[in-house]
Amino acid sequence: MSKKAKMMIDRSFRIAEIDDRIYGSFIEHLGRAVYDGIYQPGHPMSDKNGFRKDVIALVKELNVPIVRYPGGNFVSSFNWEDSVGPVDQRPHRIELAWRSLETNEVGLHEFSQWAKAADAEVMMALNLGTRGIADACNLLEYCNHPGGSKYSDLRISHGQKEPYEFKTWCLGNEMDGPWQMGHKTADEYGRLAAETARAMRIIDPSVEFVVCGSSNKEMPTFATWEDTVLSHTYEFADYLSLHTYYGNRSGNTNDFLAKSNDMDEFIHTVTSICDYVKAKKRSEKNMYLSFDEWNVWYHSNEKDDDAMKNKPWQVAPPLLEDIYTFEDALLVGLMLIVLLRHSDRVKVACLAQLINVIAPIMTDANGGGAWRQTIFYPFMHASRYGRGAALFPVIDSPLHATKDHGDVTDIESIAVYNEEKEEVTIFAVNRNLDEDVTLVTDVRSFEGYSLKEHIVLENDDLKAVNGFGQEKVAPQTVNRSVLEDGTLTSDIHKASWNVIRLGK
Ligand code: AHR
Repeated sequence: MSKKAKMMIDRSFRIAEIDDRIYGSFIEHLGRAVYDGIYQPGHPMSDKNGFRKDVIALVKELNVPIVRYPGGNFVSSFNWEDSVGPVDQRPHRIELAWRSLETNEVGLHEFSQWAKAADAEVMMALNLGTRGIADACNLLEYCNHPGGSKYSDLRISHGQKEPYEFKTWCLGNEMDGPWQMGHKTADEYGRLAAETARAMRIIDPSVEFVVCGSSNKEMPTFATWEDTVLSHTYEFADYLSLHTYYGNRSGNTNDFLAKSNDMDEFIHTVTSICDYVKAKKRSEKNMYLSFDEWNVWYHSNEKDDDAMKNKPWQVAPPLLEDIYTFEDALLVGLMLIVLLRHSDRVKVACLAQLINVIAPIMTDANGGGAWRQTIFYPFMHASRYGRGAALFPVIDSPLHATKDHGDVTDIESIAVYNEEKEEVTIFAVNRNLDEDVTLVTDVRSFEGYSLKEHIVLENDDLKAVNGFGQEKVAPQTVNRSVLEDGTLTSDIHKASWNVIRLGK
C-alpha cells in the first residue's frame, strides 16, 4: 500500500492574488545570453533586426511578463551611454564582472524592441556600483521623459520619439557582494539608494524601486544589511530584492530537494525584517519582495572560473551554461511552489536567467536551433496555469529523512484558483525518491468542477538531461487522478512534478 497524504483547499481560503510578474525572468549581458542567444544576425531563424524568432517563440511559451536587464554583476560597471545611438559608433568595452568584451551592438533600444516582441516588460537595473545619482537621473530622463530636455531629446534624435516608460527600476545589484564593482557597506548603499530614488521620483513619480537585499542568505551581513538598507530607504522603496541559487554539490539528492525549505525560511526571515522596519518607522506601508534571481546554478562553476581566468576579453564566451538534469527541474518546481505560497509578499520574481546562461532556453552553439532544458517545463506550467489566487494548502504529508534538513515532507503542493477561467490547478512535487504517495485532496468547495488533466514530469534517471534535438525530459499527460464526490485522489509517483487541473 502506498503512503498517503491529505490536503484541503477551499476557494475562499486565499493567500493572495498572484502578481503575474512572479513569472519574470532575467537577461544579462553575460556569456551567450544576448549575442548568440536572443540576437544572432545571419542565423536562418533570425528576423531582419537579428533577433532569433525561434527563441522568441520559446520565451512566449514560457509567457514571461517582465525581464530584468542588463545585469546582474554586469550592470555595476556599465555605462548606459555606450549602448545607445548609432550602432556603428558604439564603443567596444572591456567588461569587468565577467572579463568579456562588450560590443554594445545590442543596447537599450534593441533590447526594448526585443522585449516588446516577446510580450514582456523591461525591469531596468541601474549602475550604483561605479556610478551614482546623476547618471541614474540621466538614464531615467533618456528613457521616460517625453522630450524637450537634453537626454529625452537625445533619445528622440536616436529615432525613439515615444518614451520607453520603464516602470520598475532596480537600484543597483548585489551591492553587499565584494565581487561587485563598487560594492558598499549597508550604510553607504542605503544612503545612495535613498537619494537616487528621491531624485528619480522627481523626474518620474510613477516609477517603482527595488532596493538590494543581501546577495544570498549566507552572506555574513545578511539580516543586518536588510535592516540598515531599509532603515535608509523605506520611504522610497517598493520592493526589497532576494537572490538564491542552489546546487547538488554533495551529490545527495534527498538533501538537494529539501533546499526549497531554505528558500521558504529565507522569504519568511526577510518578510519579518521588513515588518520590523515598518514597525520601527511607524509606517503604514508594507514592503514587498522582488525575488529577482533564483535558480539552480552549479554545474558550470569550475569551467567558468577557468575560462574567465585563462581566456578573458572574448565576445560572448560560453559562460554559466549549466545543462540541467531532471532533479534540477524538480527543485525548480519546488521553488515555484514556495514563491506561490509567499505570493502575499513576493510580487516580482525572476528566474535567472532566460537564454543560454543558467537558462531554461538554450541555443545550439554550432548554429543549430533553440531547445528546452528540463527546467523549462515546471516554469512553463506554473506560468501558464498558476495565474489567479493562491490558496492556502492545508497539507498533512508523510515525511522522509534527509541528512542536512532533518525530516522533510514528501509532498509539497499549492493550488491556484483562476476565478475568471473557472479553473483550479494543483501543483505538487513528490520529493521522496523511493516511494509513491497517494494524495487525497478535499475539493468540495469547487462544486461542479471536473478533472481536466493530470500532467507529470518524471524520469527514471534523476540525472537525465535534454539537448539540441533530444528531449529526454518532457511532460506527459497521465491517468492518475480521479475526482469523485468532492474528493480528488491522485497517485503522485516518487520524484515527480505534477500539474492537476480541474475546471468547470
Ligand atoms: O545570474 C548570474 C549572477 O548571479 C548575476 O550577475 C549576479 O547578480 C548574481 O551573483
